[in-house]
Amino acid sequence: MAGVPTAVLISGRGSNFSALHAASLAPGYPARIALVISNRADAPGLELAAAAGLPAEVIEHAAFGRDREKFDAALDAKLHAAGIRLVALAGFMRLLTPRFVDAWRDRLVNIHPSLLPAFPGLDTHARALAAGVRLHGASVHLVRAEVDSGPILAQGAVPVLPDDTEDRLAARVLAVEHRIYPMALAWLAAGKVRVEGNVARVDAPCSEAALINPAG
Ligand code: GAR
Repeated sequence: MAGVPTAVLISGRGSNFSALHAASLAPGYPARIALVISNRADAPGLELAAAAGLPAEVIEHAAFGRDREKFDAALDAKLHAAGIRLVALAGFMRLLTPRFVDAWRDRLVNIHPSLLPAFPGLDTHARALAAGVRLHGASVHLVRAEVDSGPILAQGAVPVLPDDTEDRLAARVLAVEHRIYPMALAWLAAGKVRVEGNVARVDAPCSEAALINPAG
């Protein structure tokens, strides 16, 4: 099968994994999901991977105690053993060590539920509501050692509505995540991304509507 062998790392529900996998089945999509790895044995996304007939592995972070270097070494070994060339973090709720991040530099991509650099970290929807922002959204970015930082590949924005709850806002953002992540992974796999300092230049037209923008 054609396409750059890509691993998707999850910790939970796996809806972004599903969106990436569904997109990857389209003829000509430049990435192929070759492996799913979860750091939790109870991640519901593992069932989605099994249903899709994809190889899935669990590397329980709890088994490594506080030793992040050892966990990341085990992760790195599994990725190399499977011939993986790109890694997509999809709700992978675990900090990676600078050594791992550097080893996968510009081949490691993440989706974060905010318009970075606003609201890095956790509870982004509650914080967006508390801050009273009028636009919120999601970002796909190349991963750097600092949490939720790195060159941005794509962002999608949604309006924050007066009667929004955290759940309603999260659902609207998630729908955008499922659109921008497959698009950004395709650019990366097709070699259309050039990194200049902290800025990613994307040599591709953006096929999406107004509030979704590549870093052109
Ligand atoms: C997604 O909203 C993703 O952006 C977020 O976790 C959710 C995972 O959902 N990721 C982070 O917060 C990482 N900092 P999913 O398992 O259904 O894809």
